[in-house]
Amino acid sequence: MMGLRKSVEKAAELIKEHAYARIISHYDADGITSAGIICNALLRRGIQFHTTIVSKLDRSFIQGLDEDLIIFCDMGTAQSDLIMEYLSKKDVIILDHHVPLAAPPISLESSVLLINPVGSRSMEKRGMENEVGDGICAAGLSYLMARCMAGDKGNLDLAGLAVAGTLGDKLELTKGINKLIVDEAIKEGVISVKKGLKLGDGKIRELMLFSTEPYIPLAGKGKWVDAFLSKVGIDGDKKVSDLGKEAEKRLSDALFALVRESNPEISEGALVGTTYILNSEVVRNGLNFMRMVDACGRLGNASIGIGLCLREEGLVEAANSLYLTFQSKLVSELNRIESDKGAIKELPNIFSLFVHERGVTGVLAGIVADYLYTGKTVVVINKQDRAEEGKVAETKLSARCNKKLLAVSKGIDLAQAMEKAAREVGGVGGGHPVAAGASIPEGSEEKFIAALDRIIGAQKGSE
Ligand code: C5P
Repeated sequence: MMGLRKSVEKAAELIKEHAYARIISHYDADGITSAGIICNALLRRGIQFHTTIVSKLDRSFIQGLDEDLIIFCDMGTAQSDLIMEYLSKKDVIILDHHVPLAAPPISLESSVLLINPVGSRSMEKRGMENEVGDGICAAGLSYLMARCMAGDKGNLDLAGLAVAGTLGDKLELTKGINKLIVDEAIKEGVISVKKGLKLGDGKIRELMLFSTEPYIPLAGKGKWVDAFLSKVGIDGDKKVSDLGKEAEKRLSDALFALVRESNPEISEGALVGTTYILNSEVVRNGLNFMRMVDACGRLGNASIGIGLCLREEGLVEAANSLYLTFQSKLVSELNRIESDKGAIKELPNIFSLFVHERGVTGVLAGIVADYLYTGKTVVVINKQDRAEEGKVAETKLSARCNKKLLAVSKGIDLAQAMEKAAREVGGVGGGHPVAAGASIPEGSEEKFIAALDRIIGAQKGSE
């Protein structure tokens, strides 16, 4: 595999040869910020583009692409066989950080350039160190490429978008190449950091009502939030940024005690730590920015998220309102799970749960696995009620397990398990070892869940 720096430079040169590009990216915060970085970089060079944000890549979509330069962000590694089948004559750049289940079949003669520092699974299994790019997300890769496209300090102001993408994928910003990106951006004034509550910025009462990460068990319960704030002596109409040091500490100690009631394992770092301020973006607080673009994508309004990345101030209100809608859906599902114990079904190796709301499966599965049902892998299932014209209706699933569970059951690999189980029922799946997703034909949910339970059981047995 070509070194990360070399392949990023090669991709930047390839783009400069074109007057037009098609950008395809994933619908979460990392995907949207990746696409946003590339849109900015292309605009600045006068290269025209068409950006499409999708939840998954399938054969018919890939087959339909006919531009001379196609850039895939935050996806594409798992579909490299299809990309080779249909697009090998085109210039293709894949900026991805998903672990390939098999060595990607990309021939060196083609002009398909795969930039994925995670490397092949076999490499990972042998315990080999990945390149310096380990821990970098698609937005980080897109940023490095944008920097190469401009040279010198050009496009350095886009570092805030790379930080937001990294926050979205919950990757470490204090290590490896991510740290280099952040340090340089701080030096240039693009980013500032401060220590404090990691709730995002806004009125404290509202933040608590909608906070799901970390999950505060008062979310959605107005009267309880008011009682809590009055007990701690905090004015809920104040913003976190307006609190003095002492009041912020009082609030964070009380919140930490509360969060620990539902998850005794949680570390203080989940609630208090480094806050990233994005000085060049229209939403300064890094968490707020990330959450807004994520909600835009997950609720089918990715264009608003891309607009935020393009610094359209006029879109902040719409993006915030999508964020609040998304959080309301999450909180209503969480409140239902808390009050209806029968909502969760338990199998030997998984907890499974059907949800009514669309677009929330991944985020909800993560919260349930971290805070509510922590002992097994959690799978959240959403049957979509309508099939697109001419297509079979699909059910969307997300699986998550918390880090402690992974540490005690080392064999668990959800990417592989979801991919295998989905294949058994004619669907597709994949992702990361602790966070993976799948789409399967409607009606095959029970068969899928039984297969997934069996596969995870076998993984645990093979530790
Ligand atoms: O959709 P969800 O948030 O659960 O996805 C978790 C991870 O799994 C993401 O990184 C996503 O790209 C990946 N995934 C995948 N194939 C699917 C669904 C999700 O690789 N069919």
